[in-house]
Amino acid sequence: MSKNGKIAVGIIGAGNIAGQHIPGYLQAAEHAQVTAIADVDGARASKYTAQLGSVQVFLDYRDMVASPEIDAVDICLPHHLHKDAIVAAAAAGKHILCEKPLCLTLDEADTVTRAVAASGVTLMCAHNQLFLPSVATAREMIRQGKLGKVYAARTTDVFALKGTAETFGWRARRETSGGGELIDTGYHPNYLLLHLVDSLPIKVTALLSRHRLLFLEGEDTAHVLVEFADGAIGSIVTGWAYEPAGCTERFSVAGEDGSLWSDGRALFFKPRGGEQVVVQEAGPAAPDTYALEVVDFIACLREGRRPLNTEVEGVNVLKMILAAYASAESGRVTELKYL
Ligand SMILES: NC(=O)c1ccc[n+]([C@@H]2O[C@H](COP(=O)([O-])OP(=O)(O)OC[C@H]3O[C@@H](n4cnc5c(N)ncnc54)[C@H](O)[C@@H]3O)[C@@H](O)[C@H]2O)c1
Repeated sequence: MSKNGKIAVGIIGAGNIAGQHIPGYLQAAEHAQVTAIADVDGARASKYTAQLGSVQVFLDYRDMVASPEIDAVDICLPHHLHKDAIVAAAAAGKHILCEKPLCLTLDEADTVTRAVAASGVTLMCAHNQLFLPSVATAREMIRQGKLGKVYAARTTDVFALKGTAETFGWRARRETSGGGELIDTGYHPNYLLLHLVDSLPIKVTALLSRHRLLFLEGEDTAHVLVEFADGAIGSIVTGWAYEPAGCTERFSVAGEDGSLWSDGRALFFKPRGGEQVVVQEAGPAAPDTYALEVVDFIACLREGRRPLNTEVEGVNVLKMILAAYASAESGRVTELKYL
């Protein structure tokens, strides 16, 4: 705890997403405080100090993690650095909020799982789209059986991203990103599908494309099909290459007794053979899911509550993505049990 009795948080990696997390810490200011920021580029870390007040800047996050004054870390690093930062934080007994992807390989996933279990810290995956109110309501309706047996679910995250190899930096290279769009933005529709469908994924098949961002070593678009143990079929469309058609939903789920869909804001339900009804209105502004996620992370630590997604779900999402990559490479369906 910091001297004023608040949970003291150190941010690791002061880039783009760190700036999106900070409003959440300001909202949780009664119980938490960002007291340190670590970045190899000191100027990047310093740009957030005005917003946060008295913050110690570290060039090496290991020095920050070693500080007894830090209770938790928020890992906002490039993908290939997540595993080492998680292991270092867990070994020092710090709770962890980790940006997606949790890590990059099954070996890394094993190391992360062991490190978190051995330390007993709480790890929350920063799966911000789970904090969309429409997602929470949809999941509840599905679990209550409002759709009957679920047959099919679709999740999407598609937009036209601009940039060059230089502006994409570590994101453009397999070694540092772990692949292409699918293991980056594509993490969102993957965890969303697993959150909505109440069954285990068993088979995955995928087609990857590089439609427009030709400088990427990996794909800029992915289509993934997932078979679940109960027979439900999931489909994921995710990409940075183009603006999606106006009718593209954020998620939809169809079952024996009805279907629901959402654009990420409003939620609609149509009972089988009936008229579509609005279950949840869009609201005046898009919810700040990053702030909601950070506020929930602090609440989980205070209440000793399990986060919605821990390293367990983080590894399950990673497995689906690695299975999709394996399928795209082999041209065959990948069975998750053989990964
Ligand atoms: N949830 C979302 O919607 C979302 C959106 C964007 C990014 N992200 C995730 O956030 C993470 C970071 O992405 P970003 O866009 O902020 O990247 P970024 O490149 O803007 O920031 C990364 C920062 O890490 C710093 N860094 C690099 N190596 C370091 C090291 N060894 N020690 C300390 N600092 C180091 C860099 O200097 C940089 O400031 C990624 O995991 C990414 O997938 C999530």
